[in-house]
Amino acid sequence: MNDFDYLSEDEVYLDAACQSLRPRPVIEALNKYYTEHNSCGERVKYKWGIKTDELVEETREKVLKFLKLSPRKYTTSFTLNTTYGLNLILSQIDPKHFKKIMTSEIEHNSPFLATLAFSEKTGLPRELIKRNDDGSITISDYDFDRAIVVVNSASNFDGRKLLNIKELEKAVHKAGGILIIDAAQAMAHSADILKGVEVDAICFSAHKMYAPSLGGIVWRDDLDKVLKPLWLGGGMVDDVEADSYKLSAENKEHRYTRFESGLQAWGEIIALGAAIDWHEHLPKKDWQNLENNTREVFEFLNSSSKVHLINQEPNPTMAFYIEGLDSHLLGEALSREKIMARTGYFCAHYYLDHVLHLPPLVRFSLGLHNRPEDIEKIKKVMKNVI
Ligand SMILES: Cc1ncc(COP(=O)(O)O)c(C=O)c1O
Repeated sequence: MNDFDYLSEDEVYLDAACQSLRPRPVIEALNKYYTEHNSCGERVKYKWGIKTDELVEETREKVLKFLKLSPRKYTTSFTLNTTYGLNLILSQIDPKHFKKIMTSEIEHNSPFLATLAFSEKTGLPRELIKRNDDGSITISDYDFDRAIVVVNSASNFDGRKLLNIKELEKAVHKAGGILIIDAAQAMAHSADILKGVEVDAICFSAHKMYAPSLGGIVWRDDLDKVLKPLWLGGGMVDDVEADSYKLSAENKEHRYTRFESGLQAWGEIIALGAAIDWHEHLPKKDWQNLENNTREVFEFLNSSSKVHLINQEPNPTMAFYIEGLDSHLLGEALSREKIMARTGYFCAHYYLDHVLHLPPLVRFSLGLHNRPEDIEKIKKVMKNVI
């Protein structure tokens, strides 16, 4: 695809689950901010600042539109990344409203540890939910009574999805709980699973969805009722007296300030808007190309008895190990062939190491930038290895 024309022909990037490559229009949007209206948002009355405000506001709206959530009920705030967003929400939750916190065993350390820290700090018990091989949760196995549930909508080692997210949302809300979704892996290639589902918060990383390094929190306005302000500062208050303040977030128009203390990454936010436009206007053939590439790699890996593939289904993110071969050595060998793949446990240590007792793995995570020639190269190099 022309939008990744800076990639050289012999380099194969297979780490899109960590950071997707940025297409040209996204890089141009970021450059445009720096070269045409580099300015502070929200406080500036000169022309550049007004332009910045307009584009930042547009991005907040684009995120909600992308997720098919109503601006009457939801707000988009920006932060550093998924990890920061999850921790920021949990650090503000007043535990008196809840009985326990729950997360699932396949989580990335990001929610896994954030929920652990929440439990240690508040004294609320923490419960681990099992995930089925297809990524769903058997809802009848759990009591969600006033529970804070924090789970991913897609995994970062095999892409399995929270297929019954809608049922989970209903069950958690019926029991008086809240549902916070780690959407780090779903936003780029599996966003459909999230669209229109009225969870309480969705945390994501723009750098995993073809945008610059940035985090986002999409949250239901009524989540406010269980939050206690923390981390206050510039950009968050309408008035300040000697020992009191009035939060700007009380006003719907400025509700996003609830999670945005201090100056924000205005250029990155604007470029996220460009990434969403790019993503939504991609021709079908580019999605088809990703699907074909994914299927080919999956079938190739699956066809060898020496390769132990974690995936049950094809997904752009695939993890495996090869019998008798150290995954880290394989990663280094691939690197010598200019194939960039990750090795280890990908921050899902608990599940991969302590539940499944797997050796360190190799992860191929494909993206929209991969060409059919990349797949040929992967197959050729891997055939030699196997
Ligand atoms: C499922 C999942 N959750 C959370 C994270 C953390 O994302 P970040 O490091 O951008 O905060 C990742 C990162 O790979 C992830 O894959």
